[in-house]
Amino acid sequence: MKNKIQSVILVGFAIFFTACNSTSTKKLDQYALIPLPETVTNQQGALPITSLQTLSTPQENSYLAQEITAFLQTEANLRLAWKSQGDLRFSLDKSLKGSEYYEIKIQTTGIDVRSASDEGLYRAWQTLKQLILLADDATKLPTGLISDQPTYSYRGAMLDVARHFFSISEVKRFIDFLALYKFNYLHLHLSDDQGWRIEIKSWPQLTTIGGQSEVGGTTGGFYSQKDYQDLVAYASDRYITIIPEIDMPGHTNAALNAYPELNCDGKAPPVHTGIEVGFSSLCIEKPVTYQFVDDVIRELADITPGPYIHIGGDETHATPNDQFIAFIDSILPKVERYGKTPMGWFETRASNYTGKMVHQYWANEGNEPQNVKKGNPIVMSPSSFAYMDMQYDSLSKFGLHWAGYINVRKAYDWDPKSVVPSLPLDDIIGLETPLWSETISDNKEMDYLLFPRLIGYAEIAWTRSENRAWEAYKKRVTKHLDWLQTQGVIPYDSPLLKAN
Ligand code: ACM
Repeated sequence: MKNKIQSVILVGFAIFFTACNSTSTKKLDQYALIPLPETVTNQQGALPITSLQTLSTPQENSYLAQEITAFLQTEANLRLAWKSQGDLRFSLDKSLKGSEYYEIKIQTTGIDVRSASDEGLYRAWQTLKQLILLADDATKLPTGLISDQPTYSYRGAMLDVARHFFSISEVKRFIDFLALYKFNYLHLHLSDDQGWRIEIKSWPQLTTIGGQSEVGGTTGGFYSQKDYQDLVAYASDRYITIIPEIDMPGHTNAALNAYPELNCDGKAPPVHTGIEVGFSSLCIEKPVTYQFVDDVIRELADITPGPYIHIGGDETHATPNDQFIAFIDSILPKVERYGKTPMGWFETRASNYTGKMVHQYWANEGNEPQNVKKGNPIVMSPSSFAYMDMQYDSLSKFGLHWAGYINVRKAYDWDPKSVVPSLPLDDIIGLETPLWSETISDNKEMDYLLFPRLIGYAEIAWTRSENRAWEAYKKRVTKHLDWLQTQGVIPYDSPLLKAN
C-alpha cells in the first residue's frame, strides 16, 4: 500500500515536471535578438511578467518612461505605476564605461537596467522590448544577464525624400523601425534634381515651386521648418540624430528651376521627373550662388540640433573639376561657421578644407579610393553591399541594379572595415545604409526594399563581427519577419531564408 502511494506520488511528480518542462521558459540566450548582444548569460528561473507592477527611470516624465508604459500596456496588458524603486528599474550608473554600454539583470523578483547614459538605457529598452515581442510564452521572462555595447558609434540609415516625397508620418514609421534596431543616425536627402523638400524662408520658391515635383510627374511635397523640427524631436526622443543633406553643386535641378538666377545663363531648366543623374550644376562663378548657399546652410543649421550638415557633392559631372573644388572649398567653412561639422559624399575628399569633416564612402568595391587624408571620420556606404535600393535579384519588383544585386545574404555578410582595405581603417566610425527612392513612393514599396535587409545592417553596425554568422542570423531574422508581418509589414520574400 505504502509502495502504491509512493508510486502515485512519483508519477504525479513526473507529470508535474514534464508539464513544467514543456511550458518552461526558453533560455535567455535562445531569444532571436537582433542585433545580437555582446554577452548573454543564462540563470535558473523565470520572472512572471505580471509581477512587474512598478517602473523607475532617471526622470519620471521622460519619453523613455512613456514608451515603456505604453508598450507594456499594449503588449502585456500591464499598467505600470512610476515609483522611485520600481520592479522594472532603469538607472544611470556613471561607473559603467562606454556611452551606449548597458547591462540588464533579469531576476525572479524584477529587472535592473543600468548604463552610464540615457542613450544606453534607451538601447537596453529595445533589447527588453524584443525579449517580450519574441517570447513563446509571453507570461514570463527567463532570468539572466545581458551586457552589451555597439561596435560602431555611427549606425545610420539614409532616406531619399527628394526623388519621391515621404510624409512626416511615413518618416516617423521609418524612425520607429530604426529605433527598435538601435540605429542612431537618420540622414535625410532633402534635395535633388526632382524636388526640394525643406522650407528655406529666405528662398521661398525652393518649396513653392521646387517642392511640387517628383519622379514620374506626380505631385511632390515638402516639410515646413516646423514639420522638420517635429521630425527632429521625434527622432531625438529615440536617440536618433537627423542629418540634413542639401546636395550641391550637382543634383540641383529643382533649385535651378525655381530660381533662374542660379543658372549661368539665367534661364530656368525644365522640371526633371526622370531618373538620370549628373547633368545639373549651380553656377559656380556667380556671387548669388554663394549668397544662396549661405542662406540655406544658416537656416538649416538653425533648425538642426545635431552636429552634422551634409553638403552632398556627388556625381558633379556637369561641373568642371577645378570649379567643383573651388566651390567645395568655399562652402565647407560655411558649415563650420554655422556651428556644424560638414559631411560629404566621397568626392568631397578632393577639397583643400583642413577642418574636420566626415567622408561618406559610397563607390563600388574595386573603385579604389585615392587621396584619403588620415584623421577624418569615414562612414561606409559601399553601394554594392549597403544600398537598399538595389534589387535583391533580377526578379525584384522595385529597385535598380547599377551597383549589382544585393540579396539578403550579401547585405549581411560584409564588414565596414573589410570591404575597402586600402582605406585608413581606424578612421571608419560605422556604416550607413541608404534608401534611394527613384522606384518607391510609399511605405508599402519602401518595406519591400527595407525588409529583411535593414535588420542585417543593424546587426553589422552593432554586433562584433566574430559573433555574427549567417546561418544563426538566418533563423533569428525569420522570427523578426514573422513579428513585422503582424505589424502590417510585407517584407521581400527571400528564397535564401527558406533554404537550409
Ligand atoms: C550616390 O549614390 N550618388 C551617393
